[in-house]
Amino acid sequence: MRRIFSGVQPTGNLHLGNYLGAIRNWVKLQGDYDCLYCIVDQHAITVRQDPKELRAQTREVAAAFLAAGIDAGRHIVFNQSQVPAHAQLAWVLNCVARLGWLNRMTQFKEKAGKDRENASIGLYAYPVLMAADILAYKATHVPVGEDQKQHLELARDIAQKFNNDYGVDFFPLPEPLIFGAATRVMSLRDGRKKMSKSDASDMSRINMTDDADAVALKIRKAKTDPLPLPGPEALRPDGTVDPADEERRPEAYNLIGIYAALADKTPAAVVAEFAGAEFSLFKKVLTDLAVATLGAMGAEMSRLMADPGYIDSVLRQGALRARAIAAPTMAEVEDIVGFLRP
Ligand code: TYM
Repeated sequence: MRRIFSGVQPTGNLHLGNYLGAIRNWVKLQGDYDCLYCIVDQHAITVRQDPKELRAQTREVAAAFLAAGIDAGRHIVFNQSQVPAHAQLAWVLNCVARLGWLNRMTQFKEKAGKDRENASIGLYAYPVLMAADILAYKATHVPVGEDQKQHLELARDIAQKFNNDYGVDFFPLPEPLIFGAATRVMSLRDGRKKMSKSDASDMSRINMTDDADAVALKIRKAKTDPLPLPGPEALRPDGTVDPADEERRPEAYNLIGIYAALADKTPAAVVAEFAGAEFSLFKKVLTDLAVATLGAMGAEMSRLMADPGYIDSVLRQGALRARAIAAPTMAEVEDIVGFLRP
């Protein structure tokens, strides 16, 4: 059986990176897999959250999933804290994962920054909870953006070590699914920095709830270089973009990648199409496309958010269905590790 698990943290604004790197791909995968799409509120509290805001943002992420086209009737949409198996399995996996493995996690280093001593234990153990999310459902595939790749490799290592330590063939090793033209959307202000919810400048990202004017302004102000768009000289004989050109022009290729993802094309096809055009023109076309996609979704999100009772009922149903899958896995884990279940 092929099963997908993936999640988004309900921390701040969902942005184009979350959409193009993850949620949009989730929508596409619904026909081929059984999917669980989760709002990971337990991950969110690894850094301080305002309780009222956390609740509101949990609903907002749920609304974004539905507005983007996730079918909560066929698949499972829920918030993590409502399924006890995540925290229960995370504890067992904390005892399987090694300190040395976690010490290598680049996201922890970035998020903890210089004040490492003052970071929460939760922030450090974050990737183990993520492994538990996936393994509680024995998910086989995990669609994410590029930045989660290291965490997924860790989840595979943890699954493998659990199987080895206990001499079982219990957890499948989950495969990352990282695809599309925008697996790593960069900041609109700095092509070498990831587009992120936590960036202080709202101009650095396009939020899923931005209106047409905001999207237009942000794209118009997006940093580029003085050259026009790359043309055929930037393509290699096999028709793909030359990585050296991409490296030289991060801002240009970020916008090209965003356009390509929205238009369902490859970056090379976009380079061929706009060869040598001025950025002012390209930015107008990009704005129209972004507004067309996000505008409809933003309107649907607002409509859904006006009815929190409905969103809560979707999450409640989702959690019931998720529990029914995770609880038996957790019971088996308890047997395997030797917890007495009298
Ligand atoms: P989070 O909430 O930071 O991001 C959610 C998803 O969006 C992707 N993403 C991006 N993709 C492209 N460009 C960007 N600039 C960009 N920024 C974010 C992320 O890769 C992710 O797929 N740890 C996860 C949540 C999580 C999870 C899981 C994911 C918890 N448990 C189990 C998969 C499986 C996170 O913080 O994502």
